[in-house]
Amino acid sequence: MRIDVLTLFPEAFMPMLRIGVLGRALEEGLLTVSLTNPRDFTHDRRRTVDDTPYGGGAGMVMRCEPLTEAADSLIGVNSLEHVVLLSPRGRVFNQQVARELAGLRDIVLICARYEGVDERVSQQLVTDEISIGDYVLSGGESAALVLIEAISRMLPGVVGSWESVETDSFFHGLLGPPQYTRPPQFKGDNVPQVLLEGNHAAIRRWRRKEALRVTHARRPDLLQQLSEEDLELLAELGAELPTPEKENE
Ligand code: ADE
Repeated sequence: MRIDVLTLFPEAFMPMLRIGVLGRALEEGLLTVSLTNPRDFTHDRRRTVDDTPYGGGAGMVMRCEPLTEAADSLIGVNSLEHVVLLSPRGRVFNQQVARELAGLRDIVLICARYEGVDERVSQQLVTDEISIGDYVLSGGESAALVLIEAISRMLPGVVGSWESVETDSFFHGLLGPPQYTRPPQFKGDNVPQVLLEGNHAAIRRWRRKEALRVTHARRPDLLQQLSEEDLELLAELGAELPTPEKENE
């Protein structure tokens, strides 16, 4: 997969792109991330990328030309079929959206700074607008990194064992179960016995039950599409299920 990022701060990406699973995915060519600076597509001496908003008001707006010219420079390496603007106005990012994007051959991520981008960029270039949550960041760079990291984990071969993707929070729509490592006893707290005994069926069931317990306590809204076994485990937990949301009547 190829991800092109349009950003005024390419240097902000480098440290994160080097480390861990993502760093290895890039090294092994399972993913390509390329950074393009719209400032390199300005034609005035001061290399201006923003301007004051028509109609007045505080802040600055990113101009159309540097962004669209930067995108045009990718023709031939990126299909420009999926151009995502990071913005608090977008649809909210989650694991399902990460999986959806990971299925694409290429995407472009546009990081805005200032008060946003000229609306005509959205009209002419952007195909999708994504927010990483209901708060306002000073720019889209950290949001783009969130997307890149979550998407990269979903690409075949990136995470060493598919099992660890499967035990990630949200892979099966639930928060992840607790994990333990050595020592078996720490300041009076013991690792649950079932995890020490090597009975894989029992371990799987325990993990599912604990995932249901934590999800019920913290994010009951995620308890949807439950299996027979899930309902049984929830009953064992004495959990009351949230009433399903009513369809629009
Ligand atoms: N840019 C500013 N705030 C943002 C957010 N919440 N998500 C994505 N991009 C942003």
